[in-house]
This record gives sequence, C-alpha cells and structure tokens, in this order.
Amino acid sequence: MEFIKVTEQYQPGIALIQLNRPKELNALNKQLMEEVRDALQAFDKNDQVRVIIITGNEQAFAAGADIKQMADKSAIDMLLIDQFSTWDQIRKTKKPIIAAVSGFALGGGCEFAMTCDMIIASESAKFGQPEIKIGTIPGAGGTQRLTKAVGKAKAMELILTGRFLSAEEAHFYGLVNKVVPVEMYLHEAVELAKEIARMSPVAVQLAKEAINRSFETQLDEGLAFERKNFYLTFASEDQKEGMNAFVEKRKPEFKGR
Ligand code: CAA
Repeated sequence: MEFIKVTEQYQPGIALIQLNRPKELNALNKQLMEEVRDALQAFDKNDQVRVIIITGNEQAFAAGADIKQMADKSAIDMLLIDQFSTWDQIRKTKKPIIAAVSGFALGGGCEFAMTCDMIIASESAKFGQPEIKIGTIPGAGGTQRLTKAVGKAKAMELILTGRFLSAEEAHFYGLVNKVVPVEMYLHEAVELAKEIARMSPVAVQLAKEAINRSFETQLDEGLAFERKNFYLTFASEDQKEGMNAFVEKRKPEFKGR
C-alpha cells in the first residue's frame, strides 16, 4: 500500500485505514482509491473485523480528487478511465464504515466522507464541494448525497458557490454525527465503533443494507447522471482553465465555453 496505512486490529474488532498523502492534503488519486477498495474488500472477508474507521490527519481528511492527475484529461479520457467505478465497489462494503474527519473534506474528500456510513468530525473540519471554482462539478456523489443530507437549498448554495461548511454547521444540517475537539476525533470514532462492534455482526450488516436501500434506487440513477455531467465538463475550455489555474496557482478566467 503506497498511499494508505492499514491497521487490521487498531482496537479489537476495529480496523483503521489512514489516508497517507499528507503533502498533497490526501488528494484522492486513482491508486489511493483502489488501495482503499482493496483494504475494504479484505476487511469484509475478515471475521476478526467488525467496524472500519477511515481517517486522514488533523489538517486534511482529503482535499478532493487529484486535480493534477485530471487537469489535462478529455471527456472521453475520463469516460474510459471511469475512475469513480472504484467508488461503486467501495460503497458495496458490507461492514459499517465511520469517517473520522479533521481539516479539509472537500470535493471528492467530502464525497468520500459521505460515502461512509457515519461521520465524526473534529472542530476544525471543513466540508465543501468547491469543484465549481475549477470549472467542473462534483463527480463522486456530491450532488446526490449532499442534497439528501442537507436539503436542496443548502446543497445548491454550497455546490454553486463552492463555500465551505464548518463542522458546527455540518452538524446542524445533519451531515455529521458528532463534533468533538481536534484531539478527540479519532478517539470518538473508536468509541462509536466499539459500541457497534458489540452488536450482532449479522444484524449490523442487514441493518446497514436496509438503511441504504431507503434511497439507493434513486441514488443509482442520480450517481450515473452526475458522473456523466462531471465527465462532460472535461469537454469544456472552462474545466481546462479552472484546473490549470489551480495547478499554476492563479485565478481562473472562465469564458463559458
Ligand atoms: N488535487 C491535487 N493536489 C492538491 C489538491 C487536489 N485536490 N488539493 C491540494 N493539493 C496540493 C496543492 O497543489 C499543494 O501542492 P504543492 O505544495 O505541490 O503546490 C498542496 O496540496 C497543499 O495545498 P495548498 O498549498 O493549496 O494548501 P492551502 O492550505 O493553501 O489550501 C485548500 C488548502 C483550500 C484545500 C486548497 O489546496 C484547495 O483549494 N484544494 C483543492 C480543493 C478542490 O478544488 N477540490 C475538488 C477537486 S475536484 C473533485 O474532487 C472532483 C470530484 O467530485 C471527485
């Protein structure tokens, strides 16, 4: 594993995946997500693991999909690489996943946290879907999951402006389960995991499956629609300008083409 650290028994029955690209604020490149998928699939088959925690570090859970890896891709490249199909496998994980989030959870980072089943946030956590600022849109579930979590009006505001949501606001809108001081967020996630780990693993799995079923059919259609539109933005000059401006550390000039 190059981009994640995996501890099978972080506590008895509790596995930990730590995203580990600190210099890039844990930007989610294709390989990192494949490593996460592989780890989750192994934990699903491992009877010693009851609950999985995914975390980053104090500064960043993840600052989004890797812009540098995507900046120059065409819409067809994106369609063929189809990097978000890995995320479909991740969301099929049967065991419960808790995201322990501190610092930035932006773009794909926010979408990744929302793909998990519960979120424990540190007071410094910042959630957002800032893709609009780089000429594209969320592509890994943001338009669907954020809307379901915080409601249409707030999701519109966040996705159309790229504004961030503080941990307290995220709690107010029901996006996260609990907000705790920075030094406590992993501990709090472990406490939640321990409580779940004491339950029947069969009942936990069936309950998770049933809760997800409450919106999954609509979600499938919504995710497919969003993904196509995300890939389609790569046919625009504005996506190239937006992402290149980020890489070159300057303000983008959007032309509407
Ligand atoms: N992809 C690639 N590299 C990234 C990155 C990303 N998403 N986010 C940060 N980095 C890199 C920066 O380029 C920088 O690298 P260098 O030191 O080599 O220049 C390093 O991480 C540190 O970042 P900053 O210097 O920018 O740190 P900051 O504290 O000044 O700002 C930030 C932090 C506000 C999070 C800023 O980094 C930022 O705006 N990041 C991009 C956020 C974003 O737009 N995310 C959405 C990506 S697209 C997406 O996710 C699509 C999808 O739906 C899946």
